[in-house]
Amino acid sequence: MSTWDAVDTYINAQLVGEDPILDAALARAAAAGLPAHDVAPNQGKLLHLLARISGARTILELGTLAGYSTIWLARALPEGGRLVTLEAEPAYAEVARANLEDAGLADRVEVRVGAALETLPRLEGPFDLVFLDADKQRNPEYLEWALRLTRPGSLIVADNVVRDGELANAASEDPRVQGIRRFTELLGAASNVTATAVQTVGSKGWDGFALALVEAR
Ligand code: DHB
Ligand code: MG
Repeated sequence: MSTWDAVDTYINAQLVGEDPILDAALARAAAAGLPAHDVAPNQGKLLHLLARISGARTILELGTLAGYSTIWLARALPEGGRLVTLEAEPAYAEVARANLEDAGLADRVEVRVGAALETLPRLEGPFDLVFLDADKQRNPEYLEWALRLTRPGSLIVADNVVRDGELANAASEDPRVQGIRRFTELLGAASNVTATAVQTVGSKGWDGFALALVEAR
């Protein structure tokens, strides 16, 4: 076990704890053959805390996968809150729906199936928190939609913005890397966001999150 894994194991034991519902969600995802691209437990709890700290009542997620981060985020909602999560792959959405049902969250979460660029125009904002975790090559377009669907004070969070350091590789021929680079440059150029990004290491490797607070336009 690498040191990164050992530290995540320690943090999860001390600060996250056992969670049979989340374990079952990951087990269902694995049984259905979904890629293990869920956030780590301590990262899921970070998303949960960000939603709580920002007082989010409406949350939009792009890239549901098995609904693992969805569960963390939806658990942060106050009474009457709602979460919409977009998933392009119908089979993934089915797994997520079952996981959300078992987590007791189906009443406040809506899983919408389809390419996000097709489902986004039908959404009504504003959302208090947007979590971008879908196909990274489209992050620049997703950022535009996130800005359209938020309000001053909303928080935009993006997963996988470092990708083993490839973020700094201008010559990368990977469209996902170019997507996160363009996304980062757009964030930096936007006059109405205050943003940063941080690198992370752990059980999910070397990656990072971007955070952006939407300011008055
Ligand atoms: C991939 C996607 C993710 O959202 C993630 O957290 C890790 C990996 C991927 O597509 O490779
Ligand atoms: Mg991700």
